[in-house]
Order: sequence, then structure tokens, then C-alpha cells
Amino acid sequence: MARAATAFVCSACAHEAPKWHGRCPSCGEWNSLVEEARAPAPSRRGGAGAPNGRVARPVRLADVQAVKIARLLTGIGELDRVLGGGLVPGSLVLLGGSPGIGKSTLTSMALGNLAGAGRRTLYVSGEESAAQIKLRADRLPGAALEVPVLAETDLDTVLATLDAERPEVVVIDSVQTLHAGDLTGAAGSVGQVREVADRITRLAKARDIAVLLVGHVTKEGALAGPRVLEHLVDCVLQFEGERERTYRTLRALKNRFGSTSEAGVFEMRQGGLVEVQDASARFVGEATRAPGSVVLAAMEGSRPLLVEVQALVSPSELVPPRRIANGIDRNRLALVLAVLARHAGVSVGSADVFVNVAGGVRVDEPGADLAVALAVASAARGVVAANEAEPVTSRASAVTSEARQTRQTRQMRPVACFGEVGLTGELRSVAHPERRLAEAAKFGLGPTIAPAGAGRGATEAPTLRAALTPALRVASRRAPAA
Ligand code: TYD
Ligand code: MG
Repeated sequence: MARAATAFVCSACAHEAPKWHGRCPSCGEWNSLVEEARAPAPSRRGGAGAPNGRVARPVRLADVQAVKIARLLTGIGELDRVLGGGLVPGSLVLLGGSPGIGKSTLTSMALGNLAGAGRRTLYVSGEESAAQIKLRADRLPGAALEVPVLAETDLDTVLATLDAERPEVVVIDSVQTLHAGDLTGAAGSVGQVREVADRITRLAKARDIAVLLVGHVTKEGALAGPRVLEHLVDCVLQFEGERERTYRTLRALKNRFGSTSEAGVFEMRQGGLVEVQDASARFVGEATRAPGSVVLAAMEGSRPLLVEVQALVSPSELVPPRRIANGIDRNRLALVLAVLARHAGVSVGSADVFVNVAGGVRVDEPGADLAVALAVASAARGVVAANEAEPVTSRASAVTSEARQTRQTRQMRPVACFGEVGLTGELRSVAHPERRLAEAAKFGLGPTIAPAGAGRGATEAPTLRAALTPALRVASRRAPAA
């Protein structure tokens, strides 16, 4: 009897079963069986243990001829930078992001620019009809209308077309909509997605086609589809942000041809995505200068970025009270609140705490801790965290009149800060203090509150408690007059 073409393999213990089970018969894990195409049974020749492959000759690395690869520039500066200087021919890039974030827009724009530069391109869409793609391209700048499109969901047809058309760059939008006829699973199932990506990879490497694979990521973090691809592709880009917000960040999570610390900031406008080069200026300009608002000198890859962190502390009847975090890790918020209460005398035990990074930006670095702590402290005490505009001497501020106070409030600049909060209430240093300080100084926000040893331009604070004093200084001076 012929072996079935597919098998169901447990993703936890690799047990292989001929048919699907809800629970792995071997390890007992639920929902772990995934359909996979079965490799043809290896023919065994020679004695036991004797390898039957061809003998290949290993090469010393020093003798390897490294050819300088000319990258394909997408013409979108932020995208090229995140890719490590453009697309590498024959490479596979996975672009993940939740629906509506702008993946199709970004890839259409990139292809349009490449087509405009005389490159052979192809846009394969399993999601939209050619007419729908055209509607979008109409709104986009550049040569977006020059891109040939193929609305198709059958993998074999797509592969045959790729082989015949030989584009230099192809976009597959999205990997979840293509369907391999020889697997029974529905399009988008883990087995299908892996098979689709695997076969596209093989063709792309053989024909030197650069592939941009678009993959959906659901809000609940159901990354199953794209996640299984991460080891297959050369580069994984994550497009983040909230659909309703204007700002989106593009990050490299994995990159065989560049750094993974790069990030690009975009804004969704009427005519497609626009690169935001002066992101810091925007975020600082939009900062509210109200209690609960602090500017964080964050790092987006190798680039410093100033973002506003906001907190709201409001009395709550709920037990336990709410802890809502947007743009930062929820566990970091819990940690910061605990340290604030235990080591800095700011207790919010019976209040709801909301923390938000303005503009829909996500900061995933420990350096954000201090900003979260100061924003919460500022909100809890109802005082503004700010510096005066001019360097006010203590003598001058000691004799503040009411008129002067109002002027002060108007001229206040938000407090900028960065630093990791340790469990014993200490502030720990984070990467690139000098770049963060320089960025804050550039926008007139210095001195920046930072961990000890940060260097020139910083108000150094060894502990979180010590950092509260300079941060909430303006208000405490005003307090006696109030
Ligand atoms: P889209 O790229 O289709 O998102 P994805 O492929 O990630 O699902 O577009 C996202 C949203 O952007 C869509 O709701 C419409 C909006 N949009 C604009 O605001 N301006 C534009 O120029 C375009 C093309 C889209
Ligand atoms: Mg889309």
C-alpha cells in the first residue's frame, strides 16, 4: 500500500500519526498535531551505519569568495534601513502585523518604487482582487500603477507564474491565503503556511527572487501562522501600532543581513505611509505638560526617540484595581508600581492605573521603567513633571509671585528621563545613555533624569526615590504658595 502523502506531526514531541487527533497520543498535549507533507522514504543502501551520500569538500572560511551583493532599494528610507540597506536578491522577508496596520500599503509602495526604478516586480494577492489592489495603488505616490498583479490563491499557479515571469522582487500578500493543493488543511493552517513558505523559499533561492511574504498576526498574539515561518525566512519584520492611531513602527525581529535593532516610524496618511524622520520633535511637541506626562528618551534600535509616557491614577472600587498598560509591558508596570510603593513612598494600591505611550508607539526596553514610574508618581500626586524653560536660580523661584507662576507653567518643558528600575529601588543604567541625553538636549529637554554614571547633561539619580525630587521639583516649589 502506498504511504499517505501527509502525516500529522505533534509540534510538542514530534510524534507522527496517520490521522489527526485532538490530543497527541504520545505526549498528551492538546491541539498540537499539525499536518505535514511527508518526505519520500529514503532509500537505504550500504551496510548499517555506512553513509550513502556524496562526499563534499568543506572550505576554509578564509578561502570563501564573498561577492558583494547589490541590494535592491525600495526607495522607502525607513524600510531600507530596517532591512539593513535594502532587499537582498533571493532573500525571504516576512512582514508580520495585525490586519489593517498597512502591510499591503507598505509593500505596494515598495514595489511601486522598485518598478519605477526599472526592476521587474510582481504583486501576488490572495486577499484582494486586482480591482481592489488598483483602488489602493491609485492613492499611492510613485509608479504604484506600474506593478503587475496576480490575484491568485493556488500555490502551484503562483509558483509556475513566478518561474515564468522571473520577477526580481515579488510580494505575496498574504502567506495565509495561499493554498497547497496536496495538503488537506485549510489555507492559513500551520501545515499549509509552512508548506507554502517552504516551496516559495526553494523557488526564490533557485531563481534569485527577493520575496516579501506578508503574514497576519492577530491581536491576541495568535502568531501560529507567521511564527512557524521565522526560522525559514532570512528576515522577520514586525509592523506595529494601533490601527486607529497614526504612528506605526517597523521593527526587525530577525535579520540575516543586518541589525535587528533598527526600527522605522511611519504615519498613515491619505496618500499612503509617510516616513516620520523627526519623530522626536512630533512627540515632544504633542506632549501635554499635564500631571501624569513624562518624556521618555527611548532607543528605537540605534536611534534615540523621545516619546511621551502618560499615566492616569484614579480611585477605584475594584478589587484588585485595574492595571492597564498600552505600549509597555504589563508586567513591567506591575513591577514599577511595586517598587514605587515599597521604596519611593508612592502607593497606588486602591487606585486604577492606566499607562499609555502616546502616539501608539511601543517601547519594549527596561529603560522605560523610570518614565513609567515618574508618570505614575506625577499623576498620583497631581503635580506636573517639568523643568522651567530658563534655568531658574533657586533665589528667583523662592520669591515667585502669582504672575510669575502662570508664566512658569506656560514655559515649562516636559521632564525627560530614562533608566531601569531595580527591585531594591535602585536605578540601573541602560544602553546608549549618551545618545539619549543628546537627543533630549537637542529638543531642549535637558537635564535628563538618568541613572548614576549617565554622564554630562544628566541629573543623575541613584534611586527611584532620588529621581522623584528633580522630576516633581517645579510643583513642589509652587506648592507652598498654592
Ligand atoms: P492595508 O495596507 O490594507 O493594511 P493591511 O494590509 O496591513 O491589512 O491598509 C491599512 C489601512 O490604511 C486601511 O484601513 C486604509 C488605510 N489607508 C490610508 O489611510 N491611506 C492610504 O493611502 C491607504 C492606501 C490606506
Ligand atoms: Mg492587506
